[in-house]
Amino acid sequence: MWFITPIGKNNVIGDCTLWHIDSESECAELGYELNRSYWDKGIASEAASAVIQFGFNSMLLNRIEACPFSENRPSTRLLDRLGFTLEGNLRQRIMFMGKYFDQLYYGLLKEEWKVNGTSQLSGK
Ligand SMILES: CC(C)(COP(=O)(O)OP(=O)(O)OC[C@H]1O[C@@H](n2cnc3c(N)ncnc32)[C@H](O)[C@@H]1OP(=O)(O)O)[C@@H](O)C(=O)NCCC(=O)NCCS
Repeated sequence: MWFITPIGKNNVIGDCTLWHIDSESECAELGYELNRSYWDKGIASEAASAVIQFGFNSMLLNRIEACPFSENRPSTRLLDRLGFTLEGNLRQRIMFMGKYFDQLYYGLLKEEWKVNGTSQLSGK
C-alpha cells in the first residue's frame, strides 16, 4: 500500500494498493481511495498510474484487476481512464447495508499497459 500526499506536504489524503497478490499467476488486485475533498482533480489517476507501472515493471505482474460495485461511477470511470477492460458483472454479489449490489470485474494486461496506459496518462 502506498499513501498519497499533496506535493510538498506530509498529510495523507488517500492510498493506492496492490493486494490479493497471486504470485504463481503474476496477478494482483488494484485498490484506491481518496479523501472526498480531493476528488475530481486527477490525483487518483496519477497515483494509480504510478502503482500500475510499479506492478508491471518492478513486481513483474502480468495482470492487474479491480472489482468495484457497479454503482461506483467514479471508480469505473477511473478504470476506464487507466485502460482497463470490463470483463464481467457478478450480479447481486455483495450485500451492503441491507441491499444487494452487482460487482464488476475489470482487468488490465501488461501488454495493454505498454501500448495504452503509460502514454495515455503521462503523455510519454
Ligand atoms: C474512486 C476515487 C478514488 C476516484 O476519484 P476521482 O477524483 O474521481 O479520480 P481522479 O483523482 O483520477 O480524478 C479524475 C476526475 O478529475 C477530473 N480532473 C479535473 N482536473 C484534472 C486534472 N488536472 N487532471 C486530470 N483529471 C482532472 C477528471 O476529468 C475526472 O473527472 P471525470 O471522471 O468526471 O472525467 C474516489 O471516488 C474515491 O475515493 N471513492 C471512494 C473509495 C472507493 O470507492 N474506492 C474504490 C473501491 S473499488
